[in-house]
Amino acid sequence: MLNDVESVLLSSDELAKRIEEMGAEITADYAGKEILMIGVLRGAVLFMADLARAIKVPVAIDFMAVSSYGAGTNSSGVVRILKDLDEDVEGKHVLVVEDIIDSGLTLNYLLDNVKSRKPASIKLCTLLNKPERRKVNVNIDYNGFNVPDYFVVGYGLDYAEKYRNLPFIGILKPEVYSN
Ligand code: IMP
Ligand code: MG
Repeated sequence: MLNDVESVLLSSDELAKRIEEMGAEITADYAGKEILMIGVLRGAVLFMADLARAIKVPVAIDFMAVSSYGAGTNSSGVVRILKDLDEDVEGKHVLVVEDIIDSGLTLNYLLDNVKSRKPASIKLCTLLNKPERRKVNVNIDYNGFNVPDYFVVGYGLDYAEKYRNLPFIGILKPEVYSN
């Protein structure tokens, strides 16, 4: 698994430090409120688990799964709900948690979908952002790191369901997905 990684982009220490900062910022912004975190399966799970523990106001968690890349590295633009929420979001302060925003197509669809269910508020938090690849505008409220246009894996992010358990964010060697 490590042999497929070209280089480490963000170490586990850098990730931990930034997530503590994000948690403190979110805690301050939501003082006196409760948050319903909606994690986008499956990539956001590791980030969400650490972020939730860095937030000091009450947090409920729920998940949504939408179709994105399959086994390739490019978004199809076709978004489908594979698993819907179990909780009712009406009147709740929703914080959508994503691993990476690339074209923005997935999030654009998901945010519109959740907004139509009348939450009290809705904000977006992502660990990584690839601004160079954006196809539709997405308003990010909390952004962990901007990353260059490389295919990255680890800390929840996969290529063909592999590498999610790497404790850092690494750049995948192009030969892994080009052959
Ligand atoms: P978007 O719809 O193009 O913004 O796609 C977002 C989703 O694609 C993310 O939630 C990831 O699951 C996946 N994705 C985008 N870029 C990468 C990457 O560099 N590595 C791994 N997954 C990625
Ligand atoms: Mg994802």
